[in-house]
Amino acid sequence: MATNWTPLSWRQHTAVQMPEYPDAAALAAAEKELSSYPPLVFAGEARELQSTLAEVAAGKAFLLQGGDCAESFAEFHPNNIRDTFRVLLQMAVVMTYASKLPIVKVGRMAGQFAKPRSSDTEEQGGVSLPSYRGDIINDIAFEPAGRAPDPQRMIKAYSQSAATLNLLRAFAQGGYANLHQVHAWTLDFMNRSPWAAQYGEIASRIGDALDFMAACGINPETVPQLKGTQFYTSHEALLLPYEQAMTREDSLTGQWYDTSAHMLWIGDRTRFEGSAHVEFLRGVGNPIGLKCGPSLEPDVLLRLLDTLDPARQPGRITLITRYGHDKIEKHLPTLVRAVKREGRPVVWSCDPMHGNVVKAANGYKTRPFDRILAEVRGFFAVHRAEGTHGGGIHAEMTGQNVTECTGGAMAVTDENLADRYHTHCDPRLNAGQSIELAFLLAEMLNQEMKERDRAAA
Ligand code: PEP
Ligand code: CO
Repeated sequence: MATNWTPLSWRQHTAVQMPEYPDAAALAAAEKELSSYPPLVFAGEARELQSTLAEVAAGKAFLLQGGDCAESFAEFHPNNIRDTFRVLLQMAVVMTYASKLPIVKVGRMAGQFAKPRSSDTEEQGGVSLPSYRGDIINDIAFEPAGRAPDPQRMIKAYSQSAATLNLLRAFAQGGYANLHQVHAWTLDFMNRSPWAAQYGEIASRIGDALDFMAACGINPETVPQLKGTQFYTSHEALLLPYEQAMTREDSLTGQWYDTSAHMLWIGDRTRFEGSAHVEFLRGVGNPIGLKCGPSLEPDVLLRLLDTLDPARQPGRITLITRYGHDKIEKHLPTLVRAVKREGRPVVWSCDPMHGNVVKAANGYKTRPFDRILAEVRGFFAVHRAEGTHGGGIHAEMTGQNVTECTGGAMAVTDENLADRYHTHCDPRLNAGQSIELAFLLAEMLNQEMKERDRAAA
């Protein structure tokens, strides 16, 4: 257990990217109320996720983490939850088939509300207001009243998270995640896609494998694993008053857990030494993600790992690298070598989204799909060269047919961006682009597995 740590010891550290609530009494009241609410996840589930991530760290599984950049109160709808869940499952089936590795599924869902911003204020037409920081903090509309941080929003975010998680649990265990069904969706999708020819073969081989199993009597009735799946939740642990209020002592182990999600991560802007966010997360038993951008030096990373994972527990830490398509091959090798030299059992995951943001000529913030794919290729190339396991993908995506990232087989152009640009923050992959990404990942993993077999022979 962490020494000299309490759920509120972060308050003695440097806290950035946090709102200043105008009414301290209202904030304290909301925190008190939240701290009496039921936990959203159980500590045993977080431990189970950590042991699955230990398998990823050991090269025996792959992590698929994805969902909205920012969940919002306005887009809260069962169909949105269902569609994102469905696409994550489709991606997982494609990748499992190609790699023969179990895929650990973690949603950026049921709590991904708070956003770090590059500026504290936003200017429009000569007016300056506090920046939008996510629906858990203030309102996206550019109006003075809505932009004031309101602690009651934490209560609303909690109840939306609870309802989302409830539906996800029902989908995962109630029959919706049936493997045959998931594959049927992918086939249906393939039939309408211009890249059916390119990926149709993998898709039909998955179908053959399922038919073969069915003929052998292996079906969801005889093998319950085909009917359900494990699905975990995660978000950036940014709004510390909320995270602290959700932190509880596990009665089985005496360890503290942040029960707002199974996994929490620290963003690229809050992962510095002495940060309140690092202090808070070092004391909870959940598996922790750490975003690694171009400014992170290897020696700083190693000291952060000493702080966050002094016991060197496999699966405790997931390093989520987010460099940009043109920077990854320069920066990643030095980090990988440092971590490898120290023998730290981390998961290496690729976030190909946050280093690849560009502004389109019409002003929309977008991400070109070919740069996203290029960063993924660079990630696997580095891990192949260093002899480490490229263990995961971290994507901002949705099951909706949005037009936020340009490119992809059903090409979204700069001109299309305005058609269905719904994100409350960063541009997300749509359903088609997400599945296309999964096919690329499948190819990369398949290569890694073949090389491993060759090396073992
Ligand atoms: C995010 O994941 O939405 C995010 C803000 O990422 P980063 O901290 O890597 O910039
Ligand atoms: Co984002």
